[in-house]
Amino acid sequence: MRKRTYQEAYRASLQTPDAFWREAAEDIDWFEFPRAIRSDDGNGVCRWFEGGKLNTAWLALDRHVAAGRGDEVALIYDSPVTGVVERFTFARLVARVARVAGALGDIGVHKGDRVVVYMPMIPEAVIAMLACARIGAVHSVVFGGFAAPELATRIDDAKPKVVLSASCGIEFQNVLPYKPLLDEAVRLAMWKPGRVVVAQRPQCPAELDPERDLDWASWEAAGQPVDAVPVDAWDPLYILYTSGTTGKPKGVVRDNGGHAVALNYSMGAIYDCAAGDVYWAASDIGWVVGHSYIVYGPLIKGCATVLYEGKPVRTPDAGAIWRVIAQHRVNVFFVAPTAFRAVRKEDPEALLQEGHDITCLRHLFIAGERLDPPTYEWLKRIVDVPVIDHWWQTETGWAISAKMMGVADADARPTKAGSPGHPVPGYDLRILDEDGRELGPEQEGNVVLKGPLPPSALPTVWQDHDRYLEAYWSRYPGFYLTGDGGYRDADGYLYIMGRVDDVINVAGHRLSTGELEEVVAAHNAVAECAVVGVADADKGQVPLGLVVLKDGVNLTPTALRDELVQLVRRRIGAFANFKRAVLVPRLPKTRSGKILRATIRKLVDGAAFKVPSTIEDPATLDEIKTALGGDEAR
Ligand code: COA
Ligand code: AMP
Repeated sequence: MRKRTYQEAYRASLQTPDAFWREAAEDIDWFEFPRAIRSDDGNGVCRWFEGGKLNTAWLALDRHVAAGRGDEVALIYDSPVTGVVERFTFARLVARVARVAGALGDIGVHKGDRVVVYMPMIPEAVIAMLACARIGAVHSVVFGGFAAPELATRIDDAKPKVVLSASCGIEFQNVLPYKPLLDEAVRLAMWKPGRVVVAQRPQCPAELDPERDLDWASWEAAGQPVDAVPVDAWDPLYILYTSGTTGKPKGVVRDNGGHAVALNYSMGAIYDCAAGDVYWAASDIGWVVGHSYIVYGPLIKGCATVLYEGKPVRTPDAGAIWRVIAQHRVNVFFVAPTAFRAVRKEDPEALLQEGHDITCLRHLFIAGERLDPPTYEWLKRIVDVPVIDHWWQTETGWAISAKMMGVADADARPTKAGSPGHPVPGYDLRILDEDGRELGPEQEGNVVLKGPLPPSALPTVWQDHDRYLEAYWSRYPGFYLTGDGGYRDADGYLYIMGRVDDVINVAGHRLSTGELEEVVAAHNAVAECAVVGVADADKGQVPLGLVVLKDGVNLTPTALRDELVQLVRRRIGAFANFKRAVLVPRLPKTRSGKILRATIRKLVDGAAFKVPSTIEDPATLDEIKTALGGDEAR
């Protein structure tokens, strides 16, 4: 695609989208080029590249081998928790993916079937995703930190023929057996997958059920390599569940064609990467960042990607990031702010950078939560490359707003603290007030995207199109609701100030307070509760439970808190960081009995708020303040 200035690209994408995205589509290899660039799918949803035939795994691997790059490195597995560093060339990776794809066929997985992947950050996880893509099966990766009931919910929704897993994950020095969680999830789920394949790890081999379970190594060895099958551009590549405002996660559907085109475009235009570069996204394959920028984006572009099974700190120290960048000659690094806050806490002067040559690094990209100005300023002080905040969501699969480093005039717009830059081509971004009126500079409101959305954005929610329409398109017809609040300044820079709904962001992990409330409310001492996110210096936000006890319950606040903490860990996972529960006599409600969550959120966060005119009893707000004061004093 021709390199344009940012303004040229942005304008072209909105004024002549068909021509713009046709040009982007010509940059990937199709088995059959699409017969249309944009079409209506019959449900009123704009879909991209109708009639195009391609294969995403083939784009990510085979085409680089065919271009003579088979001996170049595609995947670098770096695992400080096991002491292993292993490199896979494109040729080696394609051979394993083709064999696993064949082995999937042997256990009855075919085009369109779903496969749940519940795995730690090991090469088999990447191979699993690409093997599914190779045969047109739809993967649904579930973050390894989720507890059994969350995995069960996703199994019931995706209805997989097979689950691919591993015997354990490793968190710092702790070995976490996966198999008991997986067995429990399958027991809880109504839907029973026919087969479970387990990659055995020496740290904690799992016991296999001879009727249902297979050992990955022998299963893969018996598989016969198969070629990539052509799929339609509109065929789903994956489902990725994300938290919404209710307890039930939403299955975001990603199609093959739009996704491949958008990611390929983003790798050049946003990240300024070319084939042969080394790209490292320090996320987890269970999140969208892992899907887009550990697996598909870099490989489609022909870059080497780093799969890091470690943490920014304590594996073994706060110099881990610098060590990985230097050792693997990383050119572009992408991470969540919380990771650098953890590093800053332990090594405020970045002394552990000493001895690591990080001159290979060209850009540092940040996303997952707001890059708070103090962390931004600290990063600018300790690294000598552009620090770029960019904003996106599971639903889009790539950045909505960024400073684009691969446009012709990348230096024309300096970064500003607290801002993820300007909207990326394809996204017609607006700020609306509660009544749908467009707001001007410096006015904060709901951040929305005027339809149609660009390639890669979700066309539906898995098996629930009504929910797609309701969650994203009903609030302001014709506009996609991002769920984030923010404003633009006089120079058009965007500022994302946080969620305006019941979603919270804990250490870059997206969680629904509704889901947490369901768990807390399930405790037999709890009459009712509200869970809200409160600002936290390390994690961005952490959940806080406000709990009303049933009459006659005899539990100390500490005992109740400990039980609730354990309950959330068992039902959702430790990564939810639910550690605080405060007893209150009542919850603030409207006269019609609705809990005033938005008001509670602002109150506990110390933000300014107006007491709603609909409140039944304003004294309930003072009761919360008193309870929080008492909790802090303890
Ligand atoms: N499997 C099992 N448990 C997990 C887990 C996983 N994959 N990930 C986290 N946990 C557990 C942790 O071990 C910890 O357990 P503990 O309470 O028993 O100690 C708990 O969940 C809290 O985890 P977290 O808040 O993530 O803290 P941490 O100290 O483990 O890690 C960071 C801190 C900054 C490294 C980590 O939060 C991080 O990398 N966040 C970025 C997330 C991200 O990439 N998001 C995508 C957008 S870019
Ligand atoms: P997820 O779908 O898990 O990627 O989470 C998406 C949400 O994370 C967004 O809706 C935002 O609330 C938040 N988020 C992601 N990136 C940023 C960013 N750069 N700045 C502010 N918030 C962000």
